[in-house]
Amino acid sequence: MDKIVIKGGKKLKGVVAVSGSKNATLPVIAAAILGSSPSTIKNIPLVRDIRTMAKLIGLLGAKSEIKEHTLTIDPAGIKNYEAPYELVKTMRASIYVLGPLLTKYGYAKVSLPGGCAIGARPINLHLMGMKKMGAKIEIAHGFVKATAKKLKGARIVFDKVSVGATINVMLAAVLADGETRLDNVAKEPDVVGAVEFLKLMGAQITGEGTDVITIKGVKKLHGVKDFSVMPDRIEAATLISAAVMTKGAVKITHLIPAQLALFLEKIKEAGVKIKTDKNSVTVFPYKGKLKATDIITAPYPGFPTDVQAQWMALMTLAKGEAVIKEEIWENRFMHVMELTRMGSDIRVDGNMAIIKGVNKLSAANVMASDLRAGAALIIAALAADGVSEVHRIYHIERGYEGLDKKLKSIGANIYIEKDGN
Ligand code: UD1
Repeated sequence: MDKIVIKGGKKLKGVVAVSGSKNATLPVIAAAILGSSPSTIKNIPLVRDIRTMAKLIGLLGAKSEIKEHTLTIDPAGIKNYEAPYELVKTMRASIYVLGPLLTKYGYAKVSLPGGCAIGARPINLHLMGMKKMGAKIEIAHGFVKATAKKLKGARIVFDKVSVGATINVMLAAVLADGETRLDNVAKEPDVVGAVEFLKLMGAQITGEGTDVITIKGVKKLHGVKDFSVMPDRIEAATLISAAVMTKGAVKITHLIPAQLALFLEKIKEAGVKIKTDKNSVTVFPYKGKLKATDIITAPYPGFPTDVQAQWMALMTLAKGEAVIKEEIWENRFMHVMELTRMGSDIRVDGNMAIIKGVNKLSAANVMASDLRAGAALIIAALAADGVSEVHRIYHIERGYEGLDKKLKSIGANIYIEKDGN
């Protein structure tokens, strides 16, 4: 298997641009199924999850084509309403086709996503929403089967904030009969981006970015030309973290700083000077050590769980003791063992990790257990003493477009070693 080889110790320097957001693109691809004509989606990141989603809608019968960073989707040929295990097991966002298939064609069969490295990842809230709109849901042989002649608008209250459930239920409600009100929805930019796309398709939605979203069902939605995906705020935070970890001087461009408000506050609290412009963040080198700074992950606009691992990497070299509380996923500390192998001092107690800063990290061979854990290991390796190898990089390639090349372009000593076998 391919691995990333990093010689630590180089201070990063220069300018690097953020790609389009993976998590904002995935729901838009699912939404495009709803159209009566083709859609064009620009600024997509060229990462494995996007190709997997394109493959999935291809299996359903849609035509799709990726050219440079533009994806076109023609849903006209959709005749199959099943998402198979082989694809769903590699990418849980496959569940996003459930709502669109059910509401447009009256039937959907999707393999249950199951667990993954970071937790159980249930879909009970997705299913509760569909049921409230009148769908019949059956679970058998590892699949969820949903049927409904015509979904009906409903009042749906989520007892937990879920990005996935908010999007999936919304994708179903846009073609339902009547009005749907969703309470306690996710406010993530990915949700707002999906609504923006749906509105361009002709959907009637209000309240996105607040706790309550209201959807008036329409009879038909059309394709969208020239929609551009927002920048990837998680990739932005990862690149900023890499710059900070190496005491670098880096300007990170093509991002929306307001989407990272709390993360940037924490970076400043840790003692790093940054300059924020409309679409960029510049990180300045600092002297001495970072200040140990606690975080608690929470739904947007809280500290993103998808940046928790990267934050932990930063804290391994901070002065003092930092506490990280993971409130979204029950098992998202898989990176701790690997960071420990690099000489960090971390103790896990339930959903809390206590990181005692050390003077230096020592290079080691480590293994990515999931996408963001992989990013954290790369960040740690950039500052470690010697040559590290990060294995299982297919996790990283799921969601980062050319992270190795981007880091190399700002001075990192990094390359991918292809497995000859
Ligand atoms: C999305 C992101 C993922 C991020 C997560 C939280 C994508 C493709 N993935 O995942 O990177 O880590 O948001 O910001 O956009 N829950 C339930 N029942 C449900 C659904 C969720 O109890 O039906 C719980 C989960 O167990 C978890 C929490 O809600 O504790 C948040 O999950 P959710 O927001 O749905 O995450 P995803 O949409 O899967």
